[in-house]
Amino acid sequence: MRSRFAVSSWIFLLLPFVLVSQPSRLTAQSGSFNPPSETQIRERAANLLRQMTLEEKIAQLSQLPGFPAPQFMENVGHPMEEVLKQNGAGSILWVSDPKEINRLQHVAVEQTRLHIPVLFGLDVIHGYHTIFPDPIAMASSWDTQMVEAAQAVAAQESRAAGIQWTFAPMVDIARDARWGRMMEGAGEDPFLGSAMARAQVLGFQGKQLGAPDRVLACMKHFAGYGAADGGRDYDSSYIPEEQMWNTYLPPFKAGLDAGAGSVMSAYMDLNDVPASGNRWLLHDVLRDAWNFQGFVVSDAFAVASLKIHGYARDPQDASHKAFAAGLNMDMASGTYLKYLPLELQQKHIAMSQIDAAVLPILQTKIRMGLFEHPYIDESRIESTLNDPAHQQLARQAVQRSVVLLRNEGSLLPLNKNGKTIHSIAVIGPLADASNDLLSMWGALTKPGPTVTILKGIQGKVGSAVTVGFAHGPNLRRDIPSPFEGIPMTANLQEQPAQTAQEVHQAIEDAVTLARQSDVAILVLGELDLMSGEYASRSSLTLSNGQEELLEAVSATGKPVVLVLVNGRPLDISWAAEHVPAILEAWYPGSQGGNGIADVLFGDANPAGHLPVSWPRTAGGAPLYYNHNLTQNPDTAPDFKSRYWNMPNSPLYPFGYGLSYTTFSFDHLQVTPAARVGSSIEVSADVTNTGTQSGDAVAQLYIHQRAGSASRPVRQLKGFQRVPLEPGAKRTVHFTLGKDELQFWSPAEKTWVVEPEQFDVWVGEDSAAPLHAEFRLTD
Ligand code: NOJ
Repeated sequence: MRSRFAVSSWIFLLLPFVLVSQPSRLTAQSGSFNPPSETQIRERAANLLRQMTLEEKIAQLSQLPGFPAPQFMENVGHPMEEVLKQNGAGSILWVSDPKEINRLQHVAVEQTRLHIPVLFGLDVIHGYHTIFPDPIAMASSWDTQMVEAAQAVAAQESRAAGIQWTFAPMVDIARDARWGRMMEGAGEDPFLGSAMARAQVLGFQGKQLGAPDRVLACMKHFAGYGAADGGRDYDSSYIPEEQMWNTYLPPFKAGLDAGAGSVMSAYMDLNDVPASGNRWLLHDVLRDAWNFQGFVVSDAFAVASLKIHGYARDPQDASHKAFAAGLNMDMASGTYLKYLPLELQQKHIAMSQIDAAVLPILQTKIRMGLFEHPYIDESRIESTLNDPAHQQLARQAVQRSVVLLRNEGSLLPLNKNGKTIHSIAVIGPLADASNDLLSMWGALTKPGPTVTILKGIQGKVGSAVTVGFAHGPNLRRDIPSPFEGIPMTANLQEQPAQTAQEVHQAIEDAVTLARQSDVAILVLGELDLMSGEYASRSSLTLSNGQEELLEAVSATGKPVVLVLVNGRPLDISWAAEHVPAILEAWYPGSQGGNGIADVLFGDANPAGHLPVSWPRTAGGAPLYYNHNLTQNPDTAPDFKSRYWNMPNSPLYPFGYGLSYTTFSFDHLQVTPAARVGSSIEVSADVTNTGTQSGDAVAQLYIHQRAGSASRPVRQLKGFQRVPLEPGAKRTVHFTLGKDELQFWSPAEKTWVVEPEQFDVWVGEDSAAPLHAEFRLTD
């Protein structure tokens, strides 16, 4: 036994030499890979580290931009490939051409001294070739299995094309619809956000990092980015510690508990310390409190930006502050490459700190099998990307994500056989749009063909119904997006500017078409460039004449269905009273047109529920259901904390969504009392009281009535999507354990479960009336 152990560990010590000296034997990633044990990973990384020069180590701490970014050129002075050839690189980003990835990987593996492969990273946020609904849409499904399956497909496609690392999931809690990046996350709630974070990490990485068809996940943007002042992207966030622990950090923790191997630091100032140089976040929370063993990458150029923030004196100080805070990898700015050697020379940092920062990067590469399979098998790419099962899943994902907001007189579903409807007017600047259904992130990857909503409707009704199309006015931002027109995001384009006369004519044409048709379906909302990064808005109205278009078409008296394509709730106060049917599609992805047509014509029954509270106007933002009571709540006779011109309540509450059938909730049963430390069982009956099969989304909320801190009026603590045939009843069960009952108390400065009285509700949204109570005792 003894000698066998000695031999095998000896072989392990040599393994790096064996591997690095024979690059030509390395294979493409399709080969099998037996994941090494944690001990083996650590030993092998430590061995490799022992052989590395300072320059090689710092190269591992650097992510090189796939194009000559000015900040990088300023710091490094020569193209990234020179850096790669000399010392290798931790990672390269923004290269998506598989041939180029293979070429660069050959440079790293064959031309560098230690033959360490590069980790190729890209924003595969909701699909690579098959684009799924955007994350806010997928969160609207309240279906974690579907979300996991979708991100597993995204992983498979991107890995086949050479991307081994996705900068996703984005798990920022967003309570302000003015903020453009609400669409990239799971909305406003930490419980739903945590469930979606977990599902996405499992989808991207699998149960254990290392499978050849999965990618490394990256929890971003750490942390508090969604709370930007005024909803302005990149602006400062001021978040008290209890809000960090109770609201903003839980989805990160959930994703890390599911195994996420990397974290991206956010851009903005958090409580006056930029997140990318914030030691409390990157060290105290991530390493000390959570024992995170992976590595942290900055957001793009964020290390250099520490100077612009007014936090670092100069670029060297920026490198120092980021590094000392615990940031392992500098994304694209080249600041570490230039200044960390000086930092060491001047003894501001020690070699042991550099080593500690490099190790998790090497370990990740070993864990993922990159040393064994650094290259892509280019012959496999097409078949992986074009797997019809991926499109099928994308279509199901649309069906399961859309949220039916209004359906007066059961206008939907529409008849598709030409019996009651002979002609349909499909109207709107997003009705025949393709790239815009993919959101801005679809532009960075290699999206396949997209089915527009017009095409989906035409395909659904065939020749049974006449389908006409009117574009309506063009959509443009008042201030263009910098993403438009750069080669990396060439798919992102706004629609041409129009004169007032042209806008008027476009509306007239649409009205004429509607008059000649039995039903009008208006597809309105936001271009891909109108939501996302650098896409905050001060108003949430249907822009560019879309509101006028909607009202003019409605004035024809024809039944109107409004389909919204957008990344955030919009101000649809008029529509909510005058348009009989409203369907929220978000950015539905490649199969958007088919999935939406399935729902419009009743081949799928919508069951999406809102992951955000829907404000009436931008003036209602930030808005979230899980706020605290005030001294004068809504029930007070006067001096209420409210606007004098508009109710505080949302237009649609968090968790809201309709179906073509109806559900009732009753028979709520709760353990009446339990000691702190034990759990509470909750059950309720859900019945399909309508005539069609459909899915209910049962949601459980609690409220702690008193304690060491004011507690939110309601907090989601459980949910289940329940398929039910007409007339069928199911009892749903929930357990409230420590995780659900605890909160981080600002008075105690720690997590507490308190012996108090609690309310509990189960129902279809955050305003559900079915109520019971329980008590926790000492
Ligand atoms: C900036 C964005 O904030 C981040 O989400 C993204 O991952 C990086 N750029 C890389 O593209």
